[in-house]
Amino acid sequence: MPRVTLSAIVVLLAVAAVCVAPAQQLRVQNGAGDATRALYEQGCASCHGETAHGSEALAAPALAGQDRAYLEGQLSNFAQRRRGGDPRDSYGSQMTLFAQLLSDSDRQNLAAYLSSLPATQTPPTMTGNAARGRELYESCAACHGPSGEGGAGPRLTMLGDWYVYAQLRNYAASSRGYHEQDADGQNMAAIAATLNEAQSRDIAVYLSSPSSARGE
Ligand code: HEC
Ligand code: HEC
Repeated sequence: MPRVTLSAIVVLLAVAAVCVAPAQQLRVQNGAGDATRALYEQGCASCHGETAHGSEALAAPALAGQDRAYLEGQLSNFAQRRRGGDPRDSYGSQMTLFAQLLSDSDRQNLAAYLSSLPATQTPPTMTGNAARGRELYESCAACHGPSGEGGAGPRLTMLGDWYVYAQLRNYAASSRGYHEQDADGQNMAAIAATLNEAQSRDIAVYLSSPSSARGE
């Protein structure tokens, strides 16, 4: 095929793609949106709540408003048992079963859907020294944001003190962050291992304290 014709075809294809793409994408996104909401309601809402704000009774954290890439990464960690595969982590192991039922595109769609929902501050359930927690939190702010709103690491303020505390202890015990292909989890495990129980509790209490107490 002569070169001129080939490049003409490439140009034509590019023009066609530009014209067609927006309409198609919109349709696909809308369709995926409805199907994803239904998938969430059927498969996840019984534990994580209708509005994805979590359930302490079931130890299931809030997901609404969490970072999209983080959610998708955790769902594939569970599916591959890079998280939830330690025998001491019975809550994490529940999630491996559900994550394994999802396809790659289910995980992507659910992460996009959940990150788009509004986050709320989960009410405090624990007591501790929030002022000391605030000081300790300074070493976390570079990754989790100045007041826990997220950054390179996930958002922490919407999770609830009980869940933040439980995960810090899981990391410290290496029942999370144990897998050689889970570099982020291993890093967090090393950080959490520097905190004792009381310090973990104080940080969790600080992150669930009213915004004013966090200096916002
Ligand atoms: C039987 C209850 C149950 C069901 C159903 C369930 N989960 Fe979970 N999920 C949990 C629990 C408990 C945890 C906390 C695990 C831990 O402690 O590590 C969790 C953790 C998660 C996390 C990690 C959040 C974080 O901050 O790291 C994600 C993401 C998640 N679930 C998404 C889903 C999705 C999406 C579905 C539906 C396909 C689902 N879950 C169904 C109980 C459930
Ligand atoms: C170098 C960046 C970095 C620092 C510093 C850091 N974190 Fe993290 N944190 C992360 C990343 C990345 C993850 C996700 C890890 C994973 O995939 O398991 C995470 C996960 C977490 C989680 C689990 C959230 C969830 O939804 O399950 C908690 C809780 C947490 N960090 C608290 C802290 C606290 C408290 C400190 C300070 C003592 C801290 N982190 C310091 C990067 C960091």
